[in-house]
Formats: sequence, structure tokens, C-alpha cells
Amino acid sequence: MSATPGPHRRQLHLGYMYWVNGTHWGGWRQPDAPTDGAFDVAYALRAAHTVERAKFDFFFLGDTLPGDIVDEQWKTTHNTGRLEPFTLGSQLALQTTDIGIVVTAHPTFYDPYILARLTSSLDHLSGGRLAWNVVLGASDAAARNFGLDDLGGASRYERADEFIEVVKRLWDSIEDDAYIQDKESGRFIDDSRIHRLNWRGEHFRVEGTLPLRRPPQGHPPLLYAGASEASRALSAKWADVHFTNSRTIEASAAFNADVRERAAAFGRDPEQLFFLPGITPVIGDTRASAVAVYDRLNAALPLDDDIVWGGRDREHWAAYAASPAGQAPLGHGLRNLGALSALIGVDVTDAGLDAVFPSAHVAGLSERGRRLLASVTERTDRTPEGADPVRVRDLLYASVIDGFPLAIGTAESVADTLQEWFEQGAADGFNVQSPYLWGQLDRFADEVVPILQRRGLQRTEYEASTFRGHLGLPRPRGFFDGR
Ligand SMILES: Cc1cc2nc3c(=O)[nH]c(=O)nc-3n(C[C@H](O)[C@H](O)[C@H](O)COP(=O)(O)O)c2cc1C
Repeated sequence: MSATPGPHRRQLHLGYMYWVNGTHWGGWRQPDAPTDGAFDVAYALRAAHTVERAKFDFFFLGDTLPGDIVDEQWKTTHNTGRLEPFTLGSQLALQTTDIGIVVTAHPTFYDPYILARLTSSLDHLSGGRLAWNVVLGASDAAARNFGLDDLGGASRYERADEFIEVVKRLWDSIEDDAYIQDKESGRFIDDSRIHRLNWRGEHFRVEGTLPLRRPPQGHPPLLYAGASEASRALSAKWADVHFTNSRTIEASAAFNADVRERAAAFGRDPEQLFFLPGITPVIGDTRASAVAVYDRLNAALPLDDDIVWGGRDREHWAAYAASPAGQAPLGHGLRNLGALSALIGVDVTDAGLDAVFPSAHVAGLSERGRRLLASVTERTDRTPEGADPVRVRDLLYASVIDGFPLAIGTAESVADTLQEWFEQGAADGFNVQSPYLWGQLDRFADEVVPILQRRGLQRTEYEASTFRGHLGLPRPRGFFDGR
């Protein structure tokens, strides 16, 4: 594939999703993976400098508050220990020069005044390089650390909607040139440029103003993820960047078109919304060596001690497979052949992990089973009848990391995948993740990015100095301007 570089050509927007141990749950167990960096600023800075060198739009500090970290160690190891994003973000802001910095904050667990103050401060300190990732996830157990019984169900979206509106008005509450500091007259502030909110809403009451000049970007960009009706509406109304996880180009393009249409109905320019699917590249010198990395990562996924039944019986797993929990990633006690058999609709409990999955079983697979088999073939080229056949082990691993957005292959083929999604309207860029650190992240920056740059798809130098500038977004007028 080729492309002509040009100054006004649409280019990718790349973000790096910083998960301290990488995104593959077997990543931290690789022999060359560091395990002691989570609380060390130098570790985060190494990642930030790597992607700043590759001219990424942003460095993304995601954050899901943990429920029970003992349980979560089997799945999201990055949730079991990491630095608070505003604290780390302020360090990164001072030790980088161009890259945007995304901090994550959950409206349910913050107050809009505090959040507006934190984000405005960090936008000032970073010279306009901040964005706020609005999230509404985590577990009810996480909510119980805040005196709440649960996350709030549907009402949390309504609270978030009002929360965002209040934050934006607080950012706007002191106009850019309100701080006149006129030594002659003794007037410090021009009171005609100060706007008290007098907000009395369903969830919040805010009377006054922030004690800060309007943020350099006016409004730091908002990021959002989620696919339900409520999430689409919230994103269409407020988000600048939508972080997506559609499985196919077609599904992704349809999702993006739907949210863009809703944004237009809110009076927004739908071209000013950016859709970034997550992608975890697994890169090798050849397709086979990339598949070998993938196999090594999977081999590090801890499985159940009782690999046949996980200490349960057939009835238990049948009920599990039929329940909503059966769609979630498999944690400890769920990684066994009984659970797998219930999910795929074919009994493999007698087979053992290393048995070849018999091709005679293919016809009996459930829809989930067919999807898992298809993902094994897509990721590894293994088929039930092939010379390198699908093993039971491959299906169990696929069920543990079901839905992971992996691109496995050479740097060239990873670049092809990104380009295809971009050109088919499925992506405006990507939230790039690394299966583990450091080798895979370095390979993306040093091998895939130069290919994208040669194709004119990725900038070779920063052309703007703010986050909004990287997205090509203008600084918005303030809500109170001219009022
Ligand atoms: C790709 C993706 C990334 C997400 N990252 C986070 C996160 O870092 N922290 C969090 O609390 N929730 C996160 N969420 C959850 C969303 O904020 C949202 O609340 C949840 O997906 C509910 O979506 P729904 O409205 O589609 O049900 C993420 C969701 C998606 C789809």
C-alpha cells in the first residue's frame, strides 16, 4: 500500500494507552518484562518519551478503580496497583514537551468543582496539553469505597451529563483577560469578566467561580468510551475523542456513523469527533515469529489448578455459560475445560490441554465457540484440519482473552491493518496498547511508525503545541463570552 504525503492530508491520531504491565494478562510474566515500575515516575516517563518521539497525539492514563484486587490480579493486573492519574500526569506534563496527556476521572467519584480545578490547573501547567477521559465503569465493589452501595446504574449517566456541563461552565467562569492586575488603579480582577455559576441542578449546586484563568485550551478535550444508548448519547453530546472496541471494520464504521449522526443532532460538527479503536500490536520479524510471541504470552496466563472442572461440575458450568457473567473475561476459577466446554457447546473435558481440537467437533460448536475458533485462526493461522492444527489450549486461551483487539504480524502488516481501518471509515486513529513492555512498545515506535510516516499517515514533526491543536480543533468560545 502507498499514499502520497501532503500537508493537508488526513492523518492518523495515535494515543498510547499506558497500562503499567502491558495489556496482555500474561505480559508481566515474560522473562524480559519489568515488574517493578508501577510506582516509579522514570518508568512512565520512558513510555511517554518513546511515544512522544514517535509523534503520538497523546499519552493515555486510563484508570479503573479496583474492586477486589486479590480477584483482579487474575485479569486486569494494571488495576491492582498504579499511580493516581492527576499526580502522575502533572509529572509527565513537566517532563515532556509536545505530547497530549489524558487523565481519567469518574464523575461518580468526584465533585465537579474539584475536577474542574484539577483539570484547569493541569491544562495550565502542561501548556494546553491536557484531556479528560470521562469514565463510568468499574465495579460495585469499587463504589463501596466511596460510601456508595453501587455504581448508580442508569442514573450515573444523568449525573455525568450534568457534571460535564458544570465543569465546562466552571472552566469558562473567569474569562481569559480577567486578571488585569492594574497596579495604577489597584484593580486586580475585571469583575465584568467574572461569571458566577449560580448553578442549581438535579445533582449539583455551584454558586461561584473557579479561582483560575480559563484553561489555555478553553475546554480541554473530552474522551469517552461505551456503546450503550446512554453512552452514545453522552458521547455525541460531549466527547471529542471516542475510544471504541468494535470487532470488525463494518461494525466500527457503523458505530462511528451512528454517534456522528447523534452529534449532528446536538448541533455539533460531526467531523470534529474522532473515533479511536484500541489495538494491541504483537510484532515479529515474520508472521510466524509474531505468532510465537502471542503463544508465549498465552502460555503465561495462569490457568486453574483443577484444569478439568475448576472444582465445579457440568451443571455449574452450563448455568455459568448461560449467564451474563459468562460473557466477561475469565478470571481465577473460570479457566478450565469444564467452563470452556460449556461456552463452546462441545465437551473437551476428556481431551487435555494439548489435544488437537477434532475437526469432527466443528459442526457442534455454539456461536461463541465458532467465534473463538475463528479468532484462533485469525490470530495464529491454525485450523482444525491444518498441518499446525488448533489445540484445545488455543481455544481456552482465546476464551480468556476474548475480544482483545490484537494485530499479530510484521511491522508492515500491522501498518496495513491500521491503514485499512483508517481508510474504510472505521477509525480516525488508534489507542495503541502494548502487550507488554518494553520490546513490543519500542518495535511499534521504531518500526511501525516509520512505515506509517512513509505512507503519509503519521506526522513526522508536531505541528501544534496543544492537545486540541493535535486534533486540529479550534479553541472554543466560552459559555459566558459576550453575556
Ligand atoms: C474501550 C473502553 C475503555 C474503558 N476504559 C475505562 C476506564 O479506564 N475506566 C472505567 O472506569 N471505565 C472504563 N470503561 C467503561 C466505560 O467508561 C463505560 O462506563 C462502560 O463501558 C459502560 O458502557 P456502556 O454504556 O456501553 O454499558 C471503558 C469502556 C470501554 C468500552
